[in-house]
Amino acid sequence: MDRIRIIGGQPLEGSIPISGAKNAALPLMIASILTRETLTLHNVPRLSDVRLLMRILGNHGVDAAISGKRLGQSEESGETITLSARDIVDTTAPYELVSRMRASFWVIAPMLARMGEARVSLPGGCAIGTRPVDLLLMALEKLGAEIEIDAGYVVAKAPKGLKGGHIVFPKVTVGGTHIALMAASLADGTTIIDNAAQEPEVTDLAECLIKMGARIEGAGTAQIVIEGVARLDGAHHTVLPDRIETGTYAMAVAMTGGNVLLENARPDLLQAALDVLVQSGTTITSEAGGIRVMRTGGDILPVDVATAPFPGFPTDLQAQFMALMTRAHGPSKIHETIFENRFMHVQELARLGAQIRLDGDIAYVQGKSRLKGAPVMATDLRASVSLVIAALAAEGTTLVNRVYHLDRGFEALEKKLGRCGASIERLSGEG
Ligand code: EPZ
Repeated sequence: MDRIRIIGGQPLEGSIPISGAKNAALPLMIASILTRETLTLHNVPRLSDVRLLMRILGNHGVDAAISGKRLGQSEESGETITLSARDIVDTTAPYELVSRMRASFWVIAPMLARMGEARVSLPGGCAIGTRPVDLLLMALEKLGAEIEIDAGYVVAKAPKGLKGGHIVFPKVTVGGTHIALMAASLADGTTIIDNAAQEPEVTDLAECLIKMGARIEGAGTAQIVIEGVARLDGAHHTVLPDRIETGTYAMAVAMTGGNVLLENARPDLLQAALDVLVQSGTTITSEAGGIRVMRTGGDILPVDVATAPFPGFPTDLQAQFMALMTRAHGPSKIHETIFENRFMHVQELARLGAQIRLDGDIAYVQGKSRLKGAPVMATDLRASVSLVIAALAAEGTTLVNRVYHLDRGFEALEKKLGRCGASIERLSGEG
C-alpha cells in the first residue's frame, strides 16, 4: 500500500492547477443513464472514484471511454470522457459495487426514470456517519415510485413512468437534490423541489441536464422547478473547478506561509471559506487566472466556524481548517452541523501534537500547537488531506498511510504540492 512522506517546514510558492470537481463529475457521469445518446464530459479529474464509477456504469451497459491526449493539452488538463448508455442491460446495482462508493446509489434515479425499475443495494454506513437514504427514497416516492426494501436492496418501480410531484426536503441534501433533478427531468408533468441544495455541483448537474434537453429553472436557489420531457439527448459539458480542492490548497498555503496562484479556481464557489481564511490573516486576491493566496509573516489568527450547506462553510473543508487552527495564535471552536461523526481526524492530528477537545459536534482547538511529524492514517478523504496540511507545517517527517483515500479525491496531490516547494514524496509498496 502506498504511503506519502512529508518533511515539514517549507513555505509554498508557485502555482497549482485546480482540477474538475469530483462531486460534480460523479453525478454528471450518472446522468448519462438518462439518454440513449452520447454524453461527453470535459475536465474530468483523474481520480480512482471516477474510474470506479466507470466500472459501475459499465455493469449497467454504459460504454465509457477516455479520450486520448490532444494537441496542446498539458498533463494537468482534465480528461474527456464519453458515456453512451444506448441499452441498459442490467437495472441492478450490486452490494459489492455500491458499498465501495456511496454516490453510486444515485444510479437509482435515472434508471428508474428511464427503465421504470431499479434494484440498488443500500449503501450502508461509512466513516463520517450513518448517512441514511430516507430522503432520497421519499423524493422518488413523491414522483410516484413504489419502493420496497428487500434483502438489503432498494427495489423501486414505476411501471407507468414517474409523475411530477412536490418534494419538500426537511433537511438540505445534495444527493437528494441530484436524484430528484434526474428523476423529475424524465417524469410526466411538473416537479417542484423545495429546500433544494444550492451547492455549485447541483447547478452544474442542472446545467448539463438543460443541455441534454431538460427543462429546469431555479437551480442554485432553494426552489427548483422541473418540467418533465419525454426524452433527453446527448450533450457536451465541462465539469466546474473543484471548490474543495481549491479550499484545501488555500488552507495549505495559509498553514505554511507563501504565495500560490490556484489556477482556474473560482472564488464564487467558496466565498464563505475564503472569508474565513481572510479573517485568519491570509491574503486572498482574485486574478484573471484564478485565486492568489498569500501569507507572508504574521500570526495565524483563530476563527470560529460552523459548517453549513452552501453558501455556508463546507463540511468537506472542516478537517483541513481544523489542521490550520492547530497553529493559530489562540483557541478556536469548530462546529460540525452536517455529519454527526466527522471528527475522525482529531485523534490523528493529536498524534502530530495538536490539542483538540471534542464535545459532541463541537471541537475546541487550543491553537499554538507545536506540530511534530509522526506516522498517521485517516479513515476518509478529507480527514487524510487535513493530515497532509498539518504535516506540511510540522517539524520533521510525517508518513501518511492509506493513501488510497487521497487518490479518491485529490488528483496528483504530491506533484501539485511538490512543484510549490513542499518536500513530499509517494513511497510505493508495503506500508
Ligand atoms: C455530498 O454527500 C458529498 N458527496 C459529500 O462529500 C458532502 O460532504 C455532502 O454532500 C455535504 O455537502 C458527493 O457529492 C459525492 P447530503 P451526500 O445528502 O449527498 C443527511 C466528500 O468528501 N441525509 O447532502 O451524501 C445526511 O446524513 C463527500 O467528497 C439524511 O438524513 O450528502 C447528512 O447529515 C463526503 N437522509 C445531511 O443529510 C438522506 O436521505 C447532508 O447529506 C440523505 C441525507
